[in-house]
Amino acid sequence: MFDDQTLTTLKTIASTFIEYSALLFLVVLGLGAIYLVFIYISDITQTQHAIRRNYPIIGRFRYIFEHLGEFFRQYFFAMDREELPFNRSQRSWVYRAAKNIDNTIAFGSTRSLNQANEVLFMNCLFPTLSQDAAPTNAVTIGEGFAKHPYTSSAIFNISGMSFGAISKPAIRALSAGAKEAGIWLNTGEGGLSPYHLESGCDIVFQIGTAKYGVRDAEGNLSDEKLKVIGAHPEVRMIEIKLSQGAKPGKGGILPGGKVTAEVAKIRGIEVGKDSISPNGHPDIHNIDELLDMVVRIRDITGKPVGFKVVIGFSEWLDELGEIIHKRGLKYAPDFITIDSADGGTGAAPQSLMDYVGLPIRRSLPLVVDKLNEYNLRKRIKVIASGKMINPAEAAWALCVGADFIVSARGFMFALGCIQALQCNKNTCPTGITTHDPELQRGLVPENKATRVKNYALNLMHEVGVIAHSCGVKEARALTREHVYLIDNRGSPEPLTDRFPEKTPKPQYLIASTADDSDINQSSDTHSAIPITASKDARPR
Ligand SMILES: Cc1cc2nc3c(=O)[nH]c(=O)nc-3n(C[C@H](O)[C@H](O)[C@H](O)COP(=O)(O)O)c2cc1C
Repeated sequence: MFDDQTLTTLKTIASTFIEYSALLFLVVLGLGAIYLVFIYISDITQTQHAIRRNYPIIGRFRYIFEHLGEFFRQYFFAMDREELPFNRSQRSWVYRAAKNIDNTIAFGSTRSLNQANEVLFMNCLFPTLSQDAAPTNAVTIGEGFAKHPYTSSAIFNISGMSFGAISKPAIRALSAGAKEAGIWLNTGEGGLSPYHLESGCDIVFQIGTAKYGVRDAEGNLSDEKLKVIGAHPEVRMIEIKLSQGAKPGKGGILPGGKVTAEVAKIRGIEVGKDSISPNGHPDIHNIDELLDMVVRIRDITGKPVGFKVVIGFSEWLDELGEIIHKRGLKYAPDFITIDSADGGTGAAPQSLMDYVGLPIRRSLPLVVDKLNEYNLRKRIKVIASGKMINPAEAAWALCVGADFIVSARGFMFALGCIQALQCNKNTCPTGITTHDPELQRGLVPENKATRVKNYALNLMHEVGVIAHSCGVKEARALTREHVYLIDNRGSPEPLTDRFPEKTPKPQYLIASTADDSDINQSSDTHSAIPITASKDARPR
């Protein structure tokens, strides 16, 4: 095939190639050895890391494995129900719901049904037939008190995540998905961006302690700016953020790396500098000032106004009830959002995240009971949040007395979040909590909007499935009687034994009639509030 000369040339080329490769190999080996000697010397002479000083070179693997472990544990080692904050089983439900693929599982439950404090719903002998099921009842917030009350039948909505903490494509996807699903999107404390508005979805505008988006040069609430925000027809309610479950008593933290020119402009702050909100509202020191602020914002915007808190000490709820009865129902917040101590955040100190505040399992019944005792349950709507990313948790909240459930991290999973726990850096691998354009490329808003919509609709549908199994026609007809709680011996006990429904104290059966002249809206504004009506009758 080849003549002798060609063969000789090929042999020469091959042997030259082998010689150079061998030489290159020796050079690389030599450089590698020099590098190893260099890091060996640097490890044993440095004084900061004991492990590297005692185990030069191999000690470094510890840091590499520790970092890689964050990513690989969930794939190789963690069981379906053991990871935190969300286990694989919870996340998979969201992923499947968001993709609108079959969400059934096989063979049997992997959930342990004898763990203390776990919840079980009580099915009835004759479940509600599909043809008897009813659409979810609508609830109106601020009726009779806000010029523009807000009515929604969507029980599951998007909780506050600020522009800055999350990216532009993430907000665009949430906004478009919210519009398609007919749910609301809370802006979080970072101000209102064009991306929130672009789909025309319902928006809850949040005012954080730094008043981002509505602050004047001194950082005080600007009535003019608030008026402009309130004039957007999409802005349906205003939420004053007093505290957040992951960091009660600490303001928002946005690392400088995430304060882009656009984020800075919308917030009204400097580019590239850490954005740290005060740990409380400098202009709200007590219940009276809080209620004054509620009324001020409602008067300026005409929209329902409420506040978001994580419950710790709860005596203030009595003070709130008493003051509202003294000053008049106009002074009541139109809603209270209760966040759980185990809520999420973009960034927070671990001590606050792990140790401060009450979880929603305790705080939701506590607040609902107090509102009932003060006969304010109809006046003040209750929104609950905190790790309620699957239908059962949302159904539990409705049973206990919430009017609405909101979630942040559930919708992050719908956007493709893999729980990489990088929200406080600018390195989120799924483009949700980063402003790095390279990483944002992965998040295509059009595609993810559909997932947001699917997730919300599938979750609400499956809460309905639980309700029908319990024999009621729709999700809002669920009551505490539909829930059993597993006790310390592993035996299910009625939730009503632990948290019996409260009725109004006699002195509050007729609500306050103070301040009639202030009320500008409905005919029944300050008339007596009837005793909290029981929910739909339940078939047994
Ligand atoms: C990335 C991120 C940003 C958040 N930003 C805000 C915020 O600006 N304002 C706020 O009140 N809560 C914020 N939260 C808290 C959520 O709104 C919510 O209260 C909490 O995460 C509990 O809901 P979840 O368990 O469904 O996530 C944030 C949460 C996350 C994960």
